[in-house]
Amino acid sequence: MKTLKFSNNDSMHAIGLGTWKSTGNAVKKAVKDALEAGYRHIDTAAAYGNEKLIGEALKEVFDEGKILREDVFITSKLWNDSHAEGQVRPALEDSLKKLQLDYLDLYLIHWPVAFKNGVDFPKKPDDYLTPQEAPIIDTWKQMEKAKTDGLTRHIGVSNFSIKKLKDLISKASIKPEMNQVELHPFLQQQELLNFCKGENILVTGYSPLGSGDRADSMKGESEPSLLENETLQQLARSQNASVAQVLIAWQNHRDCATLPKSTTKDHIKSNFQAASLELSEKDMEKIEKLDKHFRYVTGKFFEEPSKGYENIYDE
Ligand code: A2P
Repeated sequence: MKTLKFSNNDSMHAIGLGTWKSTGNAVKKAVKDALEAGYRHIDTAAAYGNEKLIGEALKEVFDEGKILREDVFITSKLWNDSHAEGQVRPALEDSLKKLQLDYLDLYLIHWPVAFKNGVDFPKKPDDYLTPQEAPIIDTWKQMEKAKTDGLTRHIGVSNFSIKKLKDLISKASIKPEMNQVELHPFLQQQELLNFCKGENILVTGYSPLGSGDRADSMKGESEPSLLENETLQQLARSQNASVAQVLIAWQNHRDCATLPKSTTKDHIKSNFQAASLELSEKDMEKIEKLDKHFRYVTGKFFEEPSKGYENIYDE
């Protein structure tokens, strides 16, 4: 398994279990199946509403004694309603309590957007805090404190553009160590990857398989399908692999970690096995041609120009 290294030499498996959209007993089972299949990297977020179930699964596995807490890399994310002064630590403590952990491996600012405390999803302009009311650097200072206080080993961000990263880096004491962004052959983000590499920021790709299980309300009219893409299907056939495995291997070949979500045991297993799939230069070139800057997660749902949030991705 390829690993990504942090500057203090901590490492993280480049294939982690994604849990966005995984709920109920299915997520509990998925975490157990994943650990049994060899995964040592689990990604969640306060907003996914599944931390408690993941915590139960982890406890059951750790109690068996074969896999230890320190063997597993666990990420969670700060929700947009907890950016304001004094709110990061309680939010992180709440995640730790639900996960039944005493530290996280990585804690991320989920989005560069702030809501009033208690807002799950904004319905009106008044649900937001403006960037002046909740400056991202002030939120970041609280993230830095959480790291120095030992609540999380590493800190980073998610859904940040180059512009937002540059701004944050210019004011931060601890640089973000990770940027978790949407990444797949239809959205290759080479410029962002180059920037992050130059700044020593690791990159994790979400929605690597196109997140076909998103709510219909989040879907556009005619979305391209990664899993049904002909070029990818041909490549998969020639490698005796599945399209999902090609998509996962492609991320690792670009030195990115990735988080395929699955609650299906066979998928969980085969996605992990993508670690041993080799893609040639030619395969990579074929995939490079598929780039069309298409986002499954448009970020439009958080745009509120009257509160200072437009063009979330700065493009
Ligand atoms: P399932 O949970 O039944 O495996 P993403 O990771 O981009 O969010 O995509 C998640 C979607 O991809 C889910 O619908 C998930 O279904 C499906 N999926 C995950 N692994 C595979 C696989 N190996 N083959 C086909 N579909 C997969």
